[in-house]
Amino acid sequence: MATLVDGFGRTFPYLRLSLTEACNYRCSYCLPDGYQADGRPTFLTLDEIRRLVRGFAAVGMRKIRLTGGEPSLRKDLPSIIAAVSATPGVRKIALTTNGCRLPQLVRTWREAGLTALNVSLDSLDAARFAAITGHDRFAEVTEGIEIAQTLGFDAVKLNAVLLRGLNDDELPAWLNYLRTRDVAVRFIELMRTGDNREYFERHHYRAEALEEQLIASGWTQQTRAADAGPAREYAHPGYRGRIGIIAPYSKDFCAGCNRLRVTARGDLRLCLFGDFGIPLRPLLQSDADHEALTARIATQLGLKAAGHGLHQGNTGITPHLASIGG
Ligand code: 5AD
Ligand code: SF4
Repeated sequence: MATLVDGFGRTFPYLRLSLTEACNYRCSYCLPDGYQADGRPTFLTLDEIRRLVRGFAAVGMRKIRLTGGEPSLRKDLPSIIAAVSATPGVRKIALTTNGCRLPQLVRTWREAGLTALNVSLDSLDAARFAAITGHDRFAEVTEGIEIAQTLGFDAVKLNAVLLRGLNDDELPAWLNYLRTRDVAVRFIELMRTGDNREYFERHHYRAEALEEQLIASGWTQQTRAADAGPAREYAHPGYRGRIGIIAPYSKDFCAGCNRLRVTARGDLRLCLFGDFGIPLRPLLQSDADHEALTARIATQLGLKAAGHGLHQGNTGITPHLASIGG
């Protein structure tokens, strides 16, 4: 099978597919007023998703991450996982979730073929978690994480967005948490989006400041796999867990890009902060369009830019990450 390479020598074994724009949380940096449907959106159906994934797998995609919005709001999520899992070429299926109803749902996802799980956990303090997400579900989310660790996933990862003044003093609590648990936490530097400019000014905290503290206390950087996400991963002999740093403003972030995105409405987005989407949905209506689909993906990849324009304050057309799936 072919492998796509863009004009900068980057390959793209990793696809992030958003299943819905809807979310039941109100994270203060993402959807502070909650999700507001824009018109009556219709998101990709199970059949469309099956064709889409087959197309990307044919041009070299090996790992897929299902995102949102909140993907678990889709009732057909187990069927989607099973369909992706049955696609030849796909080796890894990951899901990013906010963790609501995780204790009830996570076993079904694992049985359907999910191989990796990322759960958002912005604070280890229940009251702060509720303040940041608008949902008082800390106990449920952390219980779900404990269950997930017993199910044989390749990886269970936690995402924490770093927020000045809200959770930037929690490294000791995290170290305590990671001492005995086989999980990886990703500290994500807050990204500026179209909707959160003021919030960004107030709460942006440099991930590299935290990274310097880790290095000073004996954490060492691990080598990165070809289909790995954007995190720089650290380990320490005294801890079972690992720590990843995602610093989208650091200078080589885009050079290491190996990801493509497809929105819940079926637009291919070459960059999270790009200025345009390429509609794939018209080519997802029939199995007969498989070749046309792979040709469109290959042509568009030739147009992927070297890097985002965030340093210039250009956030592209992304109002908030719920619209495209982080
Ligand atoms: N900056 C950084 N991370 C964000 N996420 C959502 N919006 C932002 C932002 N503006 C994170 C969520 C979740 C992951 C999918 O993306 O917290 O963990
Ligand atoms: Fe929902 Fe994720 Fe946005 Fe939070 S960050 S509001 S969980 S989409």
